[in-house]
Amino acid sequence: MKVLIIGANGNIGQQVAQKLKKSNHQPIAMLRKPEQQATFAEKGINTVIADLEEDFQHAYKGIDAVIFTAGSGGHTSDEKTHLIDRQGAKKAIDLAIKNKIDRFVMVSSMGSGQSQENWPKDLIPYLQAKTDADEHLLHSGLNYTILMPGTLTDKSATNNITLSSDLEQKGKTVPRTDVATVITKVIDHPNAYEKSFEFVSGETPIDTALQQIA
Ligand SMILES: NC(=O)c1ccc[n+]([C@@H]2O[C@H](COP(=O)([O-])OP(=O)(O)OC[C@H]3O[C@@H](n4cnc5c(N)ncnc54)[C@H](OP(=O)(O)O)[C@@H]3O)[C@@H](O)[C@H]2O)c1
Repeated sequence: MKVLIIGANGNIGQQVAQKLKKSNHQPIAMLRKPEQQATFAEKGINTVIADLEEDFQHAYKGIDAVIFTAGSGGHTSDEKTHLIDRQGAKKAIDLAIKNKIDRFVMVSSMGSGQSQENWPKDLIPYLQAKTDADEHLLHSGLNYTILMPGTLTDKSATNNITLSSDLEQKGKTVPRTDVATVITKVIDHPNAYEKSFEFVSGETPIDTALQQIA
């Protein structure tokens, strides 16, 4: 499949692009700036310049699936959180519908969809934006997978996770590289179709955890 990665220059996005390139899929990295293209070109990864805050429908030409792993980041204003994590994600979903691109993988966050009482105060705008975007995807009619990892780290891969639709494991972490592996594997994994799940580092090899999804 030709897979558009929105947020491809990010910490997770870069790893997803490289892992997909080594698979039987063809990644297309959506980047904001031309100067970000060279490192992808060196690895033979196709790119498209587009910004979630502008019209980005040209990025959807000829693609079969979308991975959304963009984010406004933890140090931006609530307005940016709204524009990227809520509005940007919703626009990305709407463009998939409009362009009849059925497969959509969303990188959400543990805590999304839960009641606000469970959320740390400083994360309320972010988790509400994630929740709204996930709700939009759930009701989109697309073949979705909503991934809700715990707190991200830059530690080395363990390739082992604990995965469930409701983990209730606040504060648990998972390396970005393992998140990138999960994303790459769920893209065409039927067990993950029309599913939402949380995951953190754990004891189960990623392949086994995906096989065990009911
Ligand atoms: N931090 C956590 O603990 C945590 C936990 C669970 C889930 N998540 C989610 O994990 C995902 C990715 O994490 P990460 O560590 O890879 O994040 P990251 O390194 O900050 O990457 C985010 C990417 O989004 C891109 N982006 C921002 N605004 C954009 C726009 N207007 N148009 C297009 N792209 C835009 C950035 O582009 P530039 O490179 O050009 O800036 C960047 O490449 C996010 O969805 C985040 O919400 C985070």
